[in-house]
Amino acid sequence: MFSKETYISRRAKLMEKINDGIILLLGNSEASANYNGNTYKFRQDSSFLYFFGLDEPDMAAVLDVESGEQILFGNDVDIDDIIWMGPQESVKEKAESVGIQKSFPMAELAGCVAKAVQQGRKVHFLPPYRNHNKILLNELLGIPVGALKENVSVELIKAIVDLRLVKEACELEEIEKACNIGYAMHYTAMKMAKLGMVEQELAGIMAGIAQSQGYMESFPTILSQNGETLHNHKHHQILTEGRMIVIDSGAETNMHYASDFTRTIPSGGKFTQQQKEIYQIVAAANNLAVGLAHPGVAYRDVHLSACRIIAQGLTNLGIMKGDVDEAVASGAHALFMPHGLGHNMGLDVHDMEDLGENYVGYDDTIKRSTQFGLASLRMGKVLQKGNVLTVEPGIYFIPALIDKWKAEGINKDFINFDKLESYRTFGGIRLEDDIVITNEGCKLLGAKRLPISVEDVEKEMANN
Ligand code: GLY
Ligand code: MN
Repeated sequence: MFSKETYISRRAKLMEKINDGIILLLGNSEASANYNGNTYKFRQDSSFLYFFGLDEPDMAAVLDVESGEQILFGNDVDIDDIIWMGPQESVKEKAESVGIQKSFPMAELAGCVAKAVQQGRKVHFLPPYRNHNKILLNELLGIPVGALKENVSVELIKAIVDLRLVKEACELEEIEKACNIGYAMHYTAMKMAKLGMVEQELAGIMAGIAQSQGYMESFPTILSQNGETLHNHKHHQILTEGRMIVIDSGAETNMHYASDFTRTIPSGGKFTQQQKEIYQIVAAANNLAVGLAHPGVAYRDVHLSACRIIAQGLTNLGIMKGDVDEAVASGAHALFMPHGLGHNMGLDVHDMEDLGENYVGYDDTIKRSTQFGLASLRMGKVLQKGNVLTVEPGIYFIPALIDKWKAEGINKDFINFDKLESYRTFGGIRLEDDIVITNEGCKLLGAKRLPISVEDVEKEMANN
């Protein structure tokens, strides 16, 4: 946990931002995998962690923004729990450890919320994503589960996004740790990849590093020679000469801060000429974006600059044609990069996605586009010092998408469909780094940058 003062100060800032009523924040409960007692690894809610730091199931809190009262709800363990789970601090002690003086059993939460409702006060709550909390909110507030979404507090969401989007020094230290574990995961995979191995072996080695140095992976690892499928979680193929492996994976520290890196490596250690040419465009887009990200610049514009590098590179190879700026304006590059340049990262790998992507990545000045490709950009806002983001351009040759665009003549003035035929089985390339916005620009996170140039990757893999 961070210091008690960290949590006290975060809650004070949150309460200042909310006009009236009570704030209801729910922690997570255990979730069963295949029978009641066999649960998934427990993961606390990230906003609950942010404001309370308590990493245990079945807790909730109420912050009264008018009286300033703060109450933690939770149940003390009984002798049976102690026999199976060992001794634990009382809820009172847990509350005091994060600067909260009042605590009650969970059963009293309903009465506390009901009183506020009866008094006609606002009950601010966040969008629930776990069924357990959807049911709990339904019981507490009488709002049908299907209607919870339209009753969440936008005021609370915006206040939390404002706070969590700018990382504190103690958070940056944790994210650096996550990045260093992520480095170890990827570097090990790069050194161990060998023709004849099954993708799963590499994925398992990476997961082992994540778990031995931190909490676990920050999301299910994407590792596949079919990297044209953006989120490919199948790891069954044998590493085969002439193919590339997209490895997109990160670590979560024991305090639950994330990293998220992608490297694309040749299965046999050496890129073909065709692979090298596409790889270098993606690497140039990554490096350009890292160079452009600084306070005051909209990340949407950094995304568009990276897209122009991609369109220019593909035009140079004869895959795209026409004016590059016009091609990007009409979204033609999105045939090859249908996703956004990156997203915020912190206590969640896609930070605060549960609160709503548009609140996290967009605001009144920068609205989300509906254009294919640009619509998938999770972060478009103007950057501020302390933002932590990923930079992850890619080029993919997705046969189904190519066929659709060709058949429908989509952006046909900018795409050379004949030339594309020789890339049908190419796969995909993505290169992802993590950055923090500083006073004057940005800094790559992690003690060392993963090898990214063709030469450095081939050098690292030379003796595999
Ligand atoms: N690294 C996976 C993603 O950002 O979606
Ligand atoms: Mn990512």
